[in-house]
Amino acid sequence: MQKTVLIVGASRGLGLGLAKQFSSAGWQVIATVRNPQHAETLRQIPQLRVETLDMDDAASVDQLADRLAGTRLDVLFINAGVAGPQSKPATQATQAEVGQLFYTNAVAPLRLAERLLPLVKPDQGMIVFMSSILGSVEVGPGMGMDLYGASKAALNHMTRTFVAKLGETKLTVLSMHPGWVKTDMGGDQAPLDVETSTRGMVEQVTRAIGQGGHRYLDYQGEPLPW
Ligand SMILES: NC(=O)c1ccc[n+]([C@@H]2O[C@H](COP(=O)([O-])OP(=O)(O)OC[C@H]3O[C@@H](n4cnc5c(N)ncnc54)[C@H](OP(=O)(O)O)[C@@H]3O)[C@@H](O)[C@H]2O)c1
Repeated sequence: MQKTVLIVGASRGLGLGLAKQFSSAGWQVIATVRNPQHAETLRQIPQLRVETLDMDDAASVDQLADRLAGTRLDVLFINAGVAGPQSKPATQATQAEVGQLFYTNAVAPLRLAERLLPLVKPDQGMIVFMSSILGSVEVGPGMGMDLYGASKAALNHMTRTFVAKLGETKLTVLSMHPGWVKTDMGGDQAPLDVETSTRGMVEQVTRAIGQGGHRYLDYQGEPLPW
């Protein structure tokens, strides 16, 4: 039977790449954008359903949950994220910048996961959170983007808390590192292209279906230290 994935944050970069890869692998794809006017490339993907969502806006999350009522998701892939202030040291960031970064990268994804959990198939379903190796407390420090890394460490912590609260479950949860990828966020220096990273992530997701548990791994399936 055809599998269904909901990809959050698919207007560009890795989210758009994931939509293309899941679609060419035969999945039914529902993909969200913040601004429906920025969905031209996405709309060229055959049979893809575009939805509007700003993950930071609780009303927008509720409206999406209502529109999707009755949908059964094999995979909920929460990809959206922001880089935060880049031009200054972490300790120079303003309170508003820190609040925005941590809300979008660490709190909003979990809030969305909690809200959409009833749509995810309880036996074979999966939730993927887009993390980063920079969020590893063990290996991330020193790799740059300190504040962003801390927000992804917070995302990992929140995800582990979410999984712990689920208790006895067959749900599979992945915290994914896509590699360092050429996107608006990753920049031109990045060694990987979107196609290589997203093809790898779709392979990892497909492999993990039905396995259960929570793992932190990269696009090639290598486990990462928390
Ligand atoms: N590129 C890398 O090397 C790399 C490495 C490790 C982890 N990651 C992670 O991978 C994910 C995707 O990164 P990317 O490189 O593709 O970045 P990107 O090109 O900057 O794209 C970010 C995406 O997230 C969406 N987004 C941001 N805030 C949102 C919100 N509040 N609600 C809904 N959508 C929102 C953006 O939508 P708009 O178009 O509306 O802004 C866009 O579609 C992020 O979580 C990032 O932290 C990237």
